[in-house]
Amino acid sequence: MPATAPALVVTSGSEGRTALLGRAIGMALRSGDAVLISGELGAGKTCMVRGMAEGTGSATPARSPTFVLVNEYPGRIRLSHCDLYRVSGLDEVEELALEERLRDGALVVEWPERGPSTLPGDALLIQIDVDTRSDGRTIVLTPRGESAGRLLSRAAAVFEMLDMAGPERTA
Ligand SMILES: Nc1ncnc2c1ncn2[C@@H]1O[C@H](COP(=O)(O)OP(=O)(O)OP(=O)(O)O)[C@@H](O)[C@H]1O
Ligand SMILES: [Mg+2]
Repeated sequence: MPATAPALVVTSGSEGRTALLGRAIGMALRSGDAVLISGELGAGKTCMVRGMAEGTGSATPARSPTFVLVNEYPGRIRLSHCDLYRVSGLDEVEELALEERLRDGALVVEWPERGPSTLPGDALLIQIDVDTRSDGRTIVLTPRGESAGRLLSRAAAVFEMLDMAGPERTA
C-alpha cells in the first residue's frame, strides 16, 4: 500500500514537545494500531514513545528496548515497543510475534527500516528529522492505511488540545 501525502507536520524545539506529541498519539491509540518511527540515532524516537506510554496511562516508564528488543507498557491498552536497530534476522523478528501483539494491543516500532517487509502494512509512519543548525526536530506523520488515517485524525485533535494548553505553543 503506498504512503499517502504527509497529513501532519510538527516542529519540536524540545524533548518535552516531542513527548507531548507522543502523549497525544498514546491517548488516541486503539488496539490494533501500529506506529513506525524512523529517524537517525538520537533523533527522539524513544522520547516520543515515552510520551505514548504515558498517554496510554501506563505506569511503566518507556525505556529503550535496544537490548531486549521489546518492552510492554500495560496501560488502558497494552503497548508493545520494539527497537529493530540491532535485529539480525527474520527469525528474531518472528520471535517478537508482532501480529499477535497487534491482536491484543497496539505496537510502536523504532528503526522499522531494519526490519522485514512483514511489518504491519496499515501503520502510522513517523519521520523525525534533526535540523543540525537549530537542533530542532521536524516530525512528519503520514498514515499508510485506513486505521492509521483514523489514528492520526484522533491524535491530531488531541495534540491540538494539549498544545493549546501547554506553555510551548510556538516552540
Ligand atoms: N526536540 C527534541 N525532541 C526529542 N529529543 C530531543 C529534542 N531536542 C533534543 N533532544 C534530545 O535528543 C535525544 C533523543 O534521544 P532518544 O533516545 O529519544 O533518541 P532515539 O531516536 O530513540 O535514538 P536511538 O536511535 O538511539 O534509539 C535526547 O537526549 C533528547 O534530550
Ligand atoms: Mg531509541
